[in-house]
Amino acid sequence: MKALEGIKILDFTHVQSGPTCTQLLAWFGADVIKVERPGVGDATRKQLVDVPGADSLYFTMLNHNKRSIELDSKNATGKEVLTRLIEECDVLVENFAPGALDRMGFSWERIQEINPRIIMASIKGFGPGKYADCKVYENVAQCAGGSASTTGFLDGPPLVTGAQIGDSGTGLHLCLGIVTALYQREKTGRGQKVSCAMQDSVLNLARVKMRDQQRLQRGPLKEYSQYGEGIPFGDATPRAGNDSGGGQPGRILKCKGWENDPNAYTYFIIQAAVWEKVCDVIGKPEWKTQEGYAKPPERLDKLNEIFSTIEEWTKTKTKFEVMDICNPLNIPVGPILSMKEIAEDEGLYATGTMVRVDHPERGEYLSVGCPIKLSDSPAEVRRSPLLGEHTTEILSDVLGYKGDDLNRIVGSGAVGDVKAQAAE
Ligand SMILES: CC(C)(COP(=O)(O)OP(=O)(O)OC[C@H]1O[C@@H](n2cnc3c(N)ncnc32)[C@H](O)[C@@H]1OP(=O)(O)O)[C@@H](O)C(=O)NCCC(=O)NCCS
Repeated sequence: MKALEGIKILDFTHVQSGPTCTQLLAWFGADVIKVERPGVGDATRKQLVDVPGADSLYFTMLNHNKRSIELDSKNATGKEVLTRLIEECDVLVENFAPGALDRMGFSWERIQEINPRIIMASIKGFGPGKYADCKVYENVAQCAGGSASTTGFLDGPPLVTGAQIGDSGTGLHLCLGIVTALYQREKTGRGQKVSCAMQDSVLNLARVKMRDQQRLQRGPLKEYSQYGEGIPFGDATPRAGNDSGGGQPGRILKCKGWENDPNAYTYFIIQAAVWEKVCDVIGKPEWKTQEGYAKPPERLDKLNEIFSTIEEWTKTKTKFEVMDICNPLNIPVGPILSMKEIAEDEGLYATGTMVRVDHPERGEYLSVGCPIKLSDSPAEVRRSPLLGEHTTEILSDVLGYKGDDLNRIVGSGAVGDVKAQAAE
């Protein structure tokens, strides 16, 4: 049995943020019914196409384990079918632009009227307020949520990060909101509205930078490299390069092969507790007792010299050798792994974190599996649906349309052409 078996999700999501959420629910066993515009579908199906004619990896990697129904929600018959779906489903998830669902005629009030037990979960760029009507994409959220202003080097511009903390990060938050609301419904019998703003989700993930914003009012942030370099702080949390966020000095250092390999680097933290071991490993045993080096506060104005010296050592080792030497000594280091190295790591396939999936249009592709492991509800990754692949199946099995009634729906033009043939 899967954890969310029996839960039906009306998946009205598109692009990345919403689909991240509903994919997790599908992996946990929910029946996720993805509603897509006839003949078009989720825009990502045809974005960043690498295999002509096939659904893109952008789409396939975010829509595993779902079923797809084509449905024009602006057509009268389409609205009838959508109403039936709302009656049947436990959760409606959407990430349309602000107001889109109301314009379709399905406000939260109307949805509750149709099914008081339903949970409606929405992602928008911003919460209520002056920007509530804005359409928002990943990098806009990273900027509005405070991440970009605190990422990058002090002497460079703000930077966005490759991890999709705006889209996928918000999808994760929404997923937790949904299962929490399902849990509350067990006791109250009522559904509720779950809302996540992308700005809020990014800010939640950048929480430690808001911590530093307040600490700044009481004095300089001593663990930031700029403190040791004598560079004054301004009035906002600055960019800290590759400093570690937790008070222990850390940097990214070159390793053997860095001249030709852009990822021949390691992260290296000089935790106070293992300072003596660091000194021994890099051949500087005198720093263990030498004044100016022995105690953490004394080292703060020498971090550039210290890390340059450590780097002279790491440059003689591969990033994996650095790991092999430092790990047994509890010196925290981490190789900078490329996506290629991760894709080739068989250990990740063994745990299901990486998976190989077969697809009728594109053949085998790699995907990231479910990162959350439930011992009683293991996630089995199945390929994403083709556009409208399950239209007739959902109309008949989930909604109970049969015979003439089914033909009426199929003939109305509300569910796309392909399925009209399938019903004949
Ligand atoms: C992502 C986003 C910017 C995309 O904007 P967009 O491509 O213009 O898409 P919209 O959400 O505005 O939807 C476009 C239209 O398609 C319509 N539509 C969608 N599915 C439909 C269907 N099955 N049948 C009929 N119409 C449909 C919508 O009703 C909307 O029509 P309207 O403008 O007349 O109200 C926007 O959806 C958004 O801001 N979402 C919330 C934040 C978010 O999730 N952003 C990150 C995405 S990864």
